[in-house]
Formats: sequence, structure tokens, C-alpha cells
Amino acid sequence: MDKKVTVIGAGNVGATTAQRLAEKELCDVVLIDIAEGLPQGKALDLVEAAPIEKHDAFIHGSNTYAASAGSDIIIITAGIPRKPGMSRDDLIKTNMNIMKGVTAEAARLSPDAVLIIVSNPLDAMCHVAFDTSGFPKNRVIGMAGVLDSARFRAFIAMELNVSVENTHAFVLGGHGDTMLPLPRYSTVAGIPITELMSAEKIEALVNRTRNGGGEIVSLLKTGSAFYAPSAAAVEMAEAILKDKKKILPCAAYLEGEYGINGLFIGVPVKLGAKGIEDIVQIKLTDDENAALQKSADAVKGLVADLKKLA
Ligand code: NAI
Ligand code: 2OP
Repeated sequence: MDKKVTVIGAGNVGATTAQRLAEKELCDVVLIDIAEGLPQGKALDLVEAAPIEKHDAFIHGSNTYAASAGSDIIIITAGIPRKPGMSRDDLIKTNMNIMKGVTAEAARLSPDAVLIIVSNPLDAMCHVAFDTSGFPKNRVIGMAGVLDSARFRAFIAMELNVSVENTHAFVLGGHGDTMLPLPRYSTVAGIPITELMSAEKIEALVNRTRNGGGEIVSLLKTGSAFYAPSAAAVEMAEAILKDKKKILPCAAYLEGEYGINGLFIGVPVKLGAKGIEDIVQIKLTDDENAALQKSADAVKGLVADLKKLA
């Protein structure tokens, strides 16, 4: 295929991302992991599924980076996931070192790629990838808002017994407990949910969304979510590969937008071939803005921790 996406980390999120990219026939995929045999085995298994799934995308598995050269997009899922009782922030030191290593290797061989960061703690890992790659800010993007918004949409659809396709939602802020689901900008067939549900019900769905990752971790017990996260990463990759100019909530490096400076945080962005082509500034109420600033403060704390650990 004429597009190539490298997925680093062939664990739950990475392998499922590779599968979704191939089955949507968006690109060839290079799947890289440190574990010997893992990316090769999963890639071969996916290639053998292709005749049944009817696609001609090729998936190449490797423990080295040579095959990734010239990728259009690099999706980084390498790292350790949360176990029950762990917060995303507990992952920071291990994943910082992994992120530095994999970003340096991948960026060197694909200097024009767009980086989509998935590893947690998400907003902090975006900073590591940004600093390590030296890529411009439009080509370093974090995946979290699409996932958190999809969770909010799923809960809205379940509550109102409507098609998920009728739902739209925005969750902004950092990918943590301070994330900011925005009911005023969340709709069913264009109708704000504030007109369709009581304030108490909305509050319950907002809280369930904030705890969405933790809810899955406590059910799975041995890892964290991967079906919805991989779907979210692939929606972002598809928007870039097809130059769709799609507006999605993603972690972006802000320089003054929303009154935030020098920080990755989730805001609506326009995704196209150049990566982030615009940061969309929506009007927030005073309360919403205060919640976004609180979330930004939490991310700033993590970035300060990174600096202490570096
Ligand atoms: P996993 O444990 O199934 O897979 C991680 C893979 O990374 C493993 O196969 C491991 O061998 C590999 N890896 C570790 N060090 C590496 C290195 N130096 N080079 C290449 N590969 C390396 O974990 P899972 O469930 O796939 O999650 C991956 C990451 O994504 C975690 O940090 C998790 O917290 C995060 N995540 C983030 C989400 C988000 O919304 N941003 C959603 C879901 C997961
Ligand atoms: C999630 O939200 C663990 O960040 C991951 O599922």
C-alpha cells in the first residue's frame, strides 16, 4: 500500500491498532516490540487473517527499526499498562525511559512522520516524545480525548437508548482524574444532552467517563483497556492518512490557546495530512475554564516530575 504506519509496542493496544489499520486497509503496518518473537508472531498471524478479512495491507513484525524507515505515522504504545490500584502517574518513570528510547530510534528513520502518542501518563509522555524527537508541535499528538469522548458517547447512548451514531461528545483536559467532559458541547442528533437528561444523570455519566479507564482495569485485573483505545488511535491515523480535516479532541502542545502555555493537554484540533492543522478554541463558561486550568495544573505537576526524574 502507498502509506506506512509503524506501531511501537505489540501488546494489547499496539496489536489491536495494527489489526484495525490493516482491516480498514489504510496502510501497510510495521509492528515493533522489544519482546523477541512477539511482533513477528502477531504480524504473521494478522497476515494469515488477511485472505479471510479481504485486505491487502501487509503487516511486518520486528524487534528493530529498519523496516519502519519512511513511515507516514508512528503510533507509540510501548510501555507498561496500569494494574489494579495503580494510577496512570505511577507509570511515569518506566514509561518515560521507554518513550525516550523508542522515539529517538523511530524519529531518526522517519523524520517527516506524525507521532501519535498513546503510552501513559499520556500528556506527560507527549512532552517526552516532543522533546526527544525535535519534531514541530503539529506532528506530535496525544491520543486520549477521542477515547474519553467515545466512552462518554457510549454511556449517553446507553442511557437514552439511541444509536451511538447519533451521539457527539467532547472531553477536554488531561487524560486523568481531572479530565473535563463538556455536557454543553455533547449532543444527540444535534440536541445538547443538557436538554435530554437531568443534571444528576449527566453528573453520573460524567463521573463514569472520568473513571472509564479505571472501570476497565478493575474488571480485567491484569491490564487496561485496548479495544476502544486502539479504535481511537486509528480514527486519528485515518484522519491524517486521508487528510480529512477532522475535528477531534487530542492532546496538543498549546502556546497561549485557552490561556495555557508550553503544555500538552486535550483540546479540539483539526487533523489532516500535516497532523494538527488547527487548534479549535471553543467558548468555555467560567466554571468550565476553571476546570480546564485545574486539569492543566495536574499535567504541569507531572511534567515537573518528569524533569526531576530525568
Ligand atoms: P501491553 O503491556 O499489552 O503492551 C505494551 C508493550 O510494550 C509490550 O508488548 C512491551 O513488550 C512493549 N514494550 C515495552 N518496552 C518497549 C520498548 N522499549 N520498545 C518496544 N516495545 C516495548 O500494554 P497495553 O495495554 O498495550 O498499553 C500500552 C500503553 O498504552 C500503556 O502505557 C497504557 O497505559 C497506555 N494506554 C493509554 C491509553 C490512552 O488513552 N492514552 C489507553 C490505553 C492504554
Ligand atoms: C484508559 O483510559 C488506561 O489510559 C487508559 O483506559
